[in-house]
Amino acid sequence: MGCTLILMLNVLLVLLGSWVFSGTASVSYDHRAIIVNGQRRILISGSVHYPRSTPEMWPGIIQKAKEGGVDVIQTYVFWNGHEPQQGKYYFEGRYDLVKFIKLVHQAGLYVHLRVGPYACAEWNFGGFPVWLKYVPGISFRTDNGPFKAAMQKFTAKIVNMMKAERLYETQGGPIILSQIENEYGPMEWELGAPGKSYAQWAAKMAVGLDTGVPWVMCKQDDAPDPIINACNGFYCDYFSPNKAYKPKIWTEAWTAWFTGFGNPVPYRPAEDLAFSVAKFIQKGGSFINYYMYHGGTNFGRTAGGPFIATSYDYDAPLDEYGLLRQPKWGHLKDLHRAIKLCEPALVSGDPAVTALGHQQEAHVFRSKAGSCAAFLANYDQHSFATVSFANRHYNLPPWSISILPDCKNTVFNTARIGAQSAQMKMTPVSRGLPWQSFNEETSSYEDSSFTVVGLLEQINTTRDVSDYLWYSTDVKIDSREKFLRGGKWPWLTIMSAGHALHVFVNGQLAGTAYGSLEKPKLTFSKAVNLRAGVNKISLLSIAVGLPNIGPHFETWNAGVLGPVSLTGLDEGKRDLTWQKWSYKVGLKGEALSLHSLSGSSSVEWVEGSLVAQRQPLTWYKSTFNAPAGNDPLALDLNTMGKGQVWINGQSLGRYWPGYKASGNCGACNYAGWFNEKKCLSNCGEASQRWYHVPRSWLYPTGNLLVLFEEWGGEPHGISLVKREVASVCADINEWQPQLVNWQMQASGKVDKPLRPKAHLSCASGQKITSIKFASFGTPQGVCGSFREGSCHAFHSYDAFERYCIGQNSCSVPVTPEIFGGDPCPHVMKKLSVEVICS
Ligand code: GAL
Repeated sequence: MGCTLILMLNVLLVLLGSWVFSGTASVSYDHRAIIVNGQRRILISGSVHYPRSTPEMWPGIIQKAKEGGVDVIQTYVFWNGHEPQQGKYYFEGRYDLVKFIKLVHQAGLYVHLRVGPYACAEWNFGGFPVWLKYVPGISFRTDNGPFKAAMQKFTAKIVNMMKAERLYETQGGPIILSQIENEYGPMEWELGAPGKSYAQWAAKMAVGLDTGVPWVMCKQDDAPDPIINACNGFYCDYFSPNKAYKPKIWTEAWTAWFTGFGNPVPYRPAEDLAFSVAKFIQKGGSFINYYMYHGGTNFGRTAGGPFIATSYDYDAPLDEYGLLRQPKWGHLKDLHRAIKLCEPALVSGDPAVTALGHQQEAHVFRSKAGSCAAFLANYDQHSFATVSFANRHYNLPPWSISILPDCKNTVFNTARIGAQSAQMKMTPVSRGLPWQSFNEETSSYEDSSFTVVGLLEQINTTRDVSDYLWYSTDVKIDSREKFLRGGKWPWLTIMSAGHALHVFVNGQLAGTAYGSLEKPKLTFSKAVNLRAGVNKISLLSIAVGLPNIGPHFETWNAGVLGPVSLTGLDEGKRDLTWQKWSYKVGLKGEALSLHSLSGSSSVEWVEGSLVAQRQPLTWYKSTFNAPAGNDPLALDLNTMGKGQVWINGQSLGRYWPGYKASGNCGACNYAGWFNEKKCLSNCGEASQRWYHVPRSWLYPTGNLLVLFEEWGGEPHGISLVKREVASVCADINEWQPQLVNWQMQASGKVDKPLRPKAHLSCASGQKITSIKFASFGTPQGVCGSFREGSCHAFHSYDAFERYCIGQNSCSVPVTPEIFGGDPCPHVMKKLSVEVICS
């Protein structure tokens, strides 16, 4: 009896829930779908962070996302970009949020606006303005009056701005979802009661702003109604929202991972990403967002961390430059089309799940109107499986899911890539630039701004107006010291909270030390050459981005906090920590604005043979003309060490090719659980060699390029390169399912299964100029390094020579006749082909 009552109550609640949320607003939800204007949807979303590209790039990125089958663009709102000084707002250029949202709307896509205002996102200070830390009595992201007041003020400002521009769906705009906070659950767990009440407050505050569209809280199991709690991760199929009437939302499906200076570059195979998404959908998922769909660039000093690289490429479907990353983009596009074919069945109810084997399952969705969609999964990481489903046999590769939009025909398998792959190249367009140099001061003695006893914390001192802080002190050495007469030099030991440190003794670089993404702290320890009398010790401490994550990350320190000591003197050890230290925030060149056109002409630069080589603390400048064409541009800084780079006064970001990636870059199989350490590249090389130069930042001629080099580099090795497609490949099984073929069959145009086609397409403006490889048979290897197998059709090249050369794109059916007949009957064959684009 009691049970029935509870059941009835539950049913009532569910009904009430769907009535409350679907009856009054045009965006609502239930257990199975997001409902937009009465339409029940399974939505595909992609993260594009507007300040990580330029407004000129936005339309192209949004268009390519749309073509890739994305329905929604998700972005954080970047508070520190919008309110760089308290009360002074900025919504222009890369921070023109309204323009960005309107462009998404124009393209016919929706927006998921993550107001935060905490973002995380490997963004400086997690998106918080640095001034926020200095609001009296503040404590971030907890039950704290000053913090809550500031957060509410900014959140309301954004919501009101969106309302004023009529950007919410209920007003005819594109915003269908919002987000408050970000992954607060784990923090709440750590903070206890104040965390709990803050989370409740944040939820209530957000809902009170009355946006008319639902709010989401990610990683927040106790998100109060009507807020939807959502999942972030590499896989989220296991996740269930906290109420039966809420849809299953995956706010961050990580397309790979971010790069840290000194770390290898992570990538995630498209097969595994597609598998994780198909798995989420087959388990009843309604909304999936790729984090990132376009990662872009941490221009200026926007990278967080510390140690987050300037590139935020993320191995996303659109690369840092906004170009298609193939086959990832194309494979996901195919996946999205397959999912969309299943939409009517998917939104209708829960799947019926049946076991097809030990590690194989079928998930079957049916609608009342009679549509049926099936997902056949093989979780086995090592073996193919042949399963029988509804009286047919299906062959499933390891760790894969096949999608059958009619419960009969496979149109897509997550491990079989039908889309083309592309190899990209960075072609130098100008080398041997004429350089001039200017020496930065190697101590701050003469113009230090203040002196105090003891060591100061760096961020409190700089307020993050610069990465650089000078610490200088005097060390008196008695002329009777033994080391002066042939003994061992004294040893200088410096403990720093991070992130990098250059040590100068009497104006000479004595050494450098730096931390890492995993361990920002550093210790400098080295014998130093001191002389009798007064020695000047100058420490240039460098911050490499403020932390963006962790409990009370606002309290994390940086800079030389000590102790600082000298050992090996006659007196033994001398502690320098508590003597007088002089300070200077920033570099002389920064004060002079050497990066800008006007500033750079305010000093005498040297040129020709006098240009400094491999010399620390050096400014370099050059000018160049914009190369013709539209290909994205980058600077190859592989011969440089560490510093910052500007073009026409705009900062491209921090560069650090001198920091080589250490890690294990072994082979990586798509099958099996992915994590951010599984698939890595660039080991032993620079973590980041190329630095994006947005086309729109250039004039036709006379562009000013300025670098500040900290370590010592070779400017003559710098080149401007363009990024373009070098070659494209197809790698297709002779009976690989293709969605178009199924559509032909479903529409009755053909009555038997069709052979797949290999589609090859160079970038617009390019042509296929030669066939690098083609083999129908049993070829081996991957795009870029295909080789023939034991079976090879001798006319494999002919079809491509005929149909592809001179074309921008071509399609060739994968059928034996095309290649001069079957080279090995009764053997499963495939086609591998690589063509050169130029
Ligand atoms: C998530 C966070 C994102 C981003 C991501 C890693 O936990 O919500 O903002 O930091 O990790 O790239």
